[in-house]
Amino acid sequence: MWQRFTEMARRVIFFAQEEAAKLGENHVSTEHMLLGLIREDDTVAALMLQHMGVSLKKIREEVERRVTRGEGRSGDDMQLAPRAKRVIDLAYDEARQLNNNYIGTEHLLLGLVREQNGLAAQILTELGVDLEKTRQMAEQLQDRKVTKPQDDSLRGRDLLSIKDLSAEEIFKIFAVAAELKSEDRLVNPLLEGKTLAMIFEKQSLRTRVTFETGMTQLGGHAIYLQPADIALGTRESVPDAARNLERWVQGIMARVFAHQTVVDLAKYANIPVINGLSDAEHPCQALADFMTILEKKGDLTKVKLAYIGDGCNTCNSLMLLAAKVGATMTVGCPEGYEPDTAMVTTARRDAKETGATISVMNDPYKAVEGANVIYTDTWVSMGLEAEKEARLKVFEPYQVNQALVDAAAEDVIILHCMPAKRGEEITDEVLDGPKSAAFDEAENRLHVQKAIMALTM
Ligand code: CP
Ligand code: NVA
Repeated sequence: MWQRFTEMARRVIFFAQEEAAKLGENHVSTEHMLLGLIREDDTVAALMLQHMGVSLKKIREEVERRVTRGEGRSGDDMQLAPRAKRVIDLAYDEARQLNNNYIGTEHLLLGLVREQNGLAAQILTELGVDLEKTRQMAEQLQDRKVTKPQDDSLRGRDLLSIKDLSAEEIFKIFAVAAELKSEDRLVNPLLEGKTLAMIFEKQSLRTRVTFETGMTQLGGHAIYLQPADIALGTRESVPDAARNLERWVQGIMARVFAHQTVVDLAKYANIPVINGLSDAEHPCQALADFMTILEKKGDLTKVKLAYIGDGCNTCNSLMLLAAKVGATMTVGCPEGYEPDTAMVTTARRDAKETGATISVMNDPYKAVEGANVIYTDTWVSMGLEAEKEARLKVFEPYQVNQALVDAAAEDVIILHCMPAKRGEEITDEVLDGPKSAAFDEAENRLHVQKAIMALTM
């Protein structure tokens, strides 16, 4: 029954059960659903009510004034009363009429308004909510939800490296990501019927969960392929895997050891291939990072980003991106662990055109001077575990701790792509401190990748 509910609509039912329990009821009735629907003021239904000039506070007061407290019981297995069940049937009917595959909070609201025998409908009617108006508003929203990004210039393209994108395309991704972020709790069926194959040669939390969740929220589907599933390059060659996949799915996201693997996948599969991290780059990460910086700091040309630690994949993508958008970036790393020379050269070439500055130095304190963003990543990237002991020694002076943060600008924010090795490259105090934006950054992986998929697939 609940499979076709959006995440928020499911939460509303859970909230309704809680509301019923709080009021000592045995069953969830329409008034509890109404309370569940307005518990958070940014659901689609709550926004619709507010647009219709109805105060959510007033609804709550009206419900509380009219219900009598029962003896009841608590528990999250609370059953729906017959009227509440009818609301769900009506919500399905409204979704069907709107050609929507998912039941969202707007359909639950329509169901509540239509179930005229319910207390919720009585209260809503008294507060001036009628079916006609509510339907009109839901239709308008529906139109907005199926709006495709205006521009098709990225359609069919691969994203293997930040080098693949122009500054204009980067800002387009940020704009679509911001739009999708504002619809966070809506299912926007931009990729309905499409499937993403996710190939992983390495472990992951963020990349796997955000790509998979992103596909669900865009109305599509994602398939998680662990290293052992397809044994890329061992059980069959990369070109053969690519030529099979392109016959079934509409996009590939791959997390690989050798960058050449994503290059080969893209060469042999005539569908978009997205790099979910290679030994050379982590472009989706850098896009989420700069989206976060844009949100927190505004003008990217005024950003001074200090990257402290290993000149690894993350650092490379950040450098390339900083150069494209005109930001200043300073890498502070131990001698011998600088970012790849070819990457620095490419970044500096772009920097010349945008006014960005890319510098590499070995003194972490000098690197953070005047920085309004400090960034770090693990000292031991996946695949380099054998070097761990040696690296921990070399990198010790490069820890992002309070002393280093204090040497940066007052308004500095701290980013980390995570997973963090707390006590190594960053201290708890900094990662959990008031200047840390690492979890906002992690959230933006979802939004930025939804934009990438919506624009390319
Ligand atoms: N930052 C990042 O890519 O995280 P995962 O390795 O967990 O995917
Ligand atoms: N540089 C790290 C990033 C992890 C998200 C690695 O490659 O392991």
